Amino acid sequence: MAGWRLIMEEKILRLLEQDSTLEHKQIAIMLNITIEEVEAEIAKMFEKGILLKYKALINWEKTDRELVMAQIELRVTPQRGEGFDKVAERIYQYPEVKNVYLMSGGYDISVMIEGRTMKEVALFVAEKLAPMEFVVSTKTHFVLKKYKEEGVIFDEQSKVMLSDVVTDMKPSGIRKFFDVVAQMPDAISLGVGEPDFVTPWHIRDAGIYSLEKGHTYYTSNSGLIQLREEICKYLNRRFNIRYESNEVLVTVGGSEAIDLCVRSIISNGDEVLIPEPSFVCYTPCTQLAGGVPVPIITRAEDEFKLTPEALKNAITPRTKLLILPFPNNPTGAVMTREDLEKIADVLRDTNIMVLSDEIYAELTYNGRHVSFAEIDGMKERTVLVSGFSKAFAMTGWRLGYACGHPDIISAMTKIHQYAIMSSPTTSQYAAIEAMKNGDEDVAKMASEYNYRRRVILEGVRQIGLSCFEPYGAFYVFPNITSTGLSSNEFCELLLKEQKVAVVPGTAFGESGEGFIRCSYAYSINSINEALSRIEKFVKKYR
Ligand SMILES: Cc1ncc(COP(=O)(O)O)c(C=O)c1O
Repeated sequence: MAGWRLIMEEKILRLLEQDSTLEHKQIAIMLNITIEEVEAEIAKMFEKGILLKYKALINWEKTDRELVMAQIELRVTPQRGEGFDKVAERIYQYPEVKNVYLMSGGYDISVMIEGRTMKEVALFVAEKLAPMEFVVSTKTHFVLKKYKEEGVIFDEQSKVMLSDVVTDMKPSGIRKFFDVVAQMPDAISLGVGEPDFVTPWHIRDAGIYSLEKGHTYYTSNSGLIQLREEICKYLNRRFNIRYESNEVLVTVGGSEAIDLCVRSIISNGDEVLIPEPSFVCYTPCTQLAGGVPVPIITRAEDEFKLTPEALKNAITPRTKLLILPFPNNPTGAVMTREDLEKIADVLRDTNIMVLSDEIYAELTYNGRHVSFAEIDGMKERTVLVSGFSKAFAMTGWRLGYACGHPDIISAMTKIHQYAIMSSPTTSQYAAIEAMKNGDEDVAKMASEYNYRRRVILEGVRQIGLSCFEPYGAFYVFPNITSTGLSSNEFCELLLKEQKVAVVPGTAFGESGEGFIRCSYAYSINSINEALSRIEKFVKKYR
């Protein structure tokens, strides 16, 4: 038992050294022990004084945010013929290092680092300095306060003052488990909403060719004219919507387009209607723009569609913008032409603008996607947001676009030109190729997703979890209430016991309680293995 305790102590310390912000439950999952055991171990370490000293010195919350200055004392034994100067020179080669001093007294060398986080310093010491063959021991000090420099005493208060909105903002609930998963070699993830396909070769090739041709400059703020024209042709060909190139802005992913649209429309106190559960960025973007997010809960009984009644009930004189997130992440819900016409009827007598996030438009499995901009009279009030990440498997290229009335597009371009200048040039050249010649690739990937969709839907239903049939995007959203666990408990225990990562429905709004999101943008083997592990898990708890 004493041996076990010492090993656990060592393991916990090693984890904390790498990431001191880890919560007890994350440590429990990683070490496959209970939270109570972690808590007991940590309490012991406090008693022994192992953690007290460390905690007293640093602010645990900020180890991977706040930039610090650190001094590392090294005891070294230079190799024969090398000498201390050579050792110092080798250490100085690391870009992290600001200064290296040869010392008299107890330690041989002192290394200064500035402008890195505590976590980065700790990793640098553990991974780069400590393993060097001549290093005998290391001792790291973080500078707590700069007291005086050239006669000036530094202000006590000189810490980073953050905006209230940002301080109150919660980090995205999607990413929470993935640092943990990354450290579990046999874990399976159905967590991330990103295609497992590599960008089709001819699209990558177009990006490479643009580099060969030397296209390494800024483009126009709005994006390459050729790309904007191709986007117009594509939208017309695929979705029967007509835009001119001056009605298109090329952005850094759909994400930037969403942010720009909200910021261009919303003033302090304006209300933004956000159907929920939905993608994680709409609420924080609204808050950053000074707006008030107003959730509209969608329900499994309504196939997670936005109903005209729910919309009517949410409208107030302060409502300025409605977000229409269909096909939906996380539910997979789609809105048919009829559904959209009913929404249009409610909006017709109002001045409410619409941000239609159609990033999954190409991934629908029950017929062609209908854009809200296609509905009679709705184009003028709609900002259509889309991009290349999902349909063309281009998440890392960071490219998206917004289409709408020239007035709103030029307002969005104003912000874009100050914040971004222009979207990545190489990605824009690749995207021209995607728009011109990518239809076949999209069809192939969509057909594979559709196959996986059927497998996973049937799988979760056979396990006994009720699940609404999703016709869009690449997610299923099963109801897990029959297990008696909350969404969060389900996900944490599933990861701990069966090493499968899925996302709690609550990451997409409180109304996601009782559900989990499973992405099927993963290989069929991973899906099948995950299903059999989920089955074992559900049987245990039901
Ligand atoms: C509904 C929805 N909109 C927008 C985005 C943003 O995509 P990107 O910025 O990669 O284009 C995502 C990404 O997951 C999404 O799910």
